[in-house]
Amino acid sequence: MADSTHKSYYITTPIYYLSGTPHIGTAYTSIICDALARFKRLDGYNVKYLSGTDEHGLKVFQCAEKAGMDIQAYCDAEVEKFKAFTPLLNLSNDDFIRTTEDRHKRAATAFWQAMEENGWIYKDSYSGWYAVSDEAYYTEEECYICPDTKKRKATASGNEVVWMEEDSYFFKMSAFQDKLLTHYEQNPDAIQPASRRNEVLSFIKSGLRDISISRSKLSWGIPVPNDDKHVMYVWTDALVNYLTGLGYPDQTPEMENLWPSAVHIVGKDILRFHAVYWPTMLMAAGLPLPKTVFAHGWLMAGDGRKMSKSLGNAIIPTDIIERYGLDQLRYYLMRDVVFGNDGNISAEALVHRTNSDLANDLGNLAQRVLSMVAKNCDGKIPTPEGFEPEDQALLQQADALLNTVRGHMDDLAPHKALEEIWVVVRAANAYIDHMAPWALRKTNLGRMETVLMTLCEVIRRIGLCTHAFMPQSSDKILDQLAITPDDRSFAAWNKALVAETTLPKPEGIFPRFVAKEAA
Ligand code: MSP
Repeated sequence: MADSTHKSYYITTPIYYLSGTPHIGTAYTSIICDALARFKRLDGYNVKYLSGTDEHGLKVFQCAEKAGMDIQAYCDAEVEKFKAFTPLLNLSNDDFIRTTEDRHKRAATAFWQAMEENGWIYKDSYSGWYAVSDEAYYTEEECYICPDTKKRKATASGNEVVWMEEDSYFFKMSAFQDKLLTHYEQNPDAIQPASRRNEVLSFIKSGLRDISISRSKLSWGIPVPNDDKHVMYVWTDALVNYLTGLGYPDQTPEMENLWPSAVHIVGKDILRFHAVYWPTMLMAAGLPLPKTVFAHGWLMAGDGRKMSKSLGNAIIPTDIIERYGLDQLRYYLMRDVVFGNDGNISAEALVHRTNSDLANDLGNLAQRVLSMVAKNCDGKIPTPEGFEPEDQALLQQADALLNTVRGHMDDLAPHKALEEIWVVVRAANAYIDHMAPWALRKTNLGRMETVLMTLCEVIRRIGLCTHAFMPQSSDKILDQLAITPDDRSFAAWNKALVAETTLPKPEGIFPRFVAKEAA
């Protein structure tokens, strides 16, 4: 198994509810998954990046009702807003799954049947609290009475709960408590970051109960096999999307090769579904578990509250992208917010971060070097005379970057990867100041060419490393060094630039924003 998955990478976003306009909070996971997927593709992996929409459940049903629309027609219209994120955010997802598609209904049905055949599903009646906004069941202890409204709410989310009583199918999750704990003990990286892992472990240790997995008072959902009075509980159906994307229930090569490498990136609010419900359901169906579930934090509005569709405090990415640029937004979200933690975001911070790192550090570096090459080397890659220790030191630092960045990407720490890339960007800027090629132009042309060649080589490597994070801008950098599309991967990491190659006219890559524009 290890061999066939060695170079496979399956990365997934949560599937988004079709309830309102997608915002930066929802875009966040997709952007990070995109950078991880792109990085692995550059590194020669067989990558599959899956995203999509969660279209069943009471929440979507109520939204369609409110809009006065037929539910399927509502979904068909709303899904377009989510699909539009792919070009808008330059996402490279290989597939987009909708839970109302036939392929998914087939997969969810087969998955249910597998759990049932193995004896893990039984019928009973359910009574308890339910939060429609979370599509989640809560116990009495998990709720509180809001002092202002006197309404009962879920402590975890602050969302109102309603009393629910109905016949229901149950999944015997309690039977998997020990097996799940053993799995997490044997696979310490299966839940990340570590703080979240501990939370999940103590939840499991506090005792797993059986869960209701069907609804009889709702007709919008995938019918329970052989009992059309019930539809599957939305999470039962939704989680299976990760298998549908690989062709389940067919025994496809993707199921065999990609499934064991699966990395689910999710928000912290839905970790329990992914780290407790999902693996136990997979065990019940007799399937292997995903490799990792990583729970990230929330993007918060200036007022310290989670940005959300229902709170109406969410930033819509379109305006930000139009004003500041897509790669600026991507860079900012991945560099400024520690992946795993909550992060306050603002236009001011975006402008500050991108002016400093992109316009001043990286943009200036490329601009200074490439315009000197254009003016003083006849617009061609310079010819080095022999590298001095200072040149070699910088080249080695840039050479070592790939392994460092790779390590951070494997650890799901994109913010650290970017931090390390900027250590080299700053070292290159310090080198250029120290070497002063503009002065060498008058005294030692050969040495000037060596210094500029060193810098071109370092910029090439930086451009390869930033590619997954900022594909468009990195392509502009690599274009200006005449790097062919074939050489834009880590396989070409050591393929040095060829002296005398003619370069295109240099152009600025990252514009600088003045402070007042940030408002
Ligand atoms: N449909 C379920 C997921 C099913 S996966 C099998 C769902 N959908 S959601 O649309 O409500 O949320 C999708 C993701 O967006 C979640 O991971 C959630 O944490 C994330 N975010 C929503 N608002 C967010 C922020 N303000 N910040 C960061 N992530 C945010 O849950």
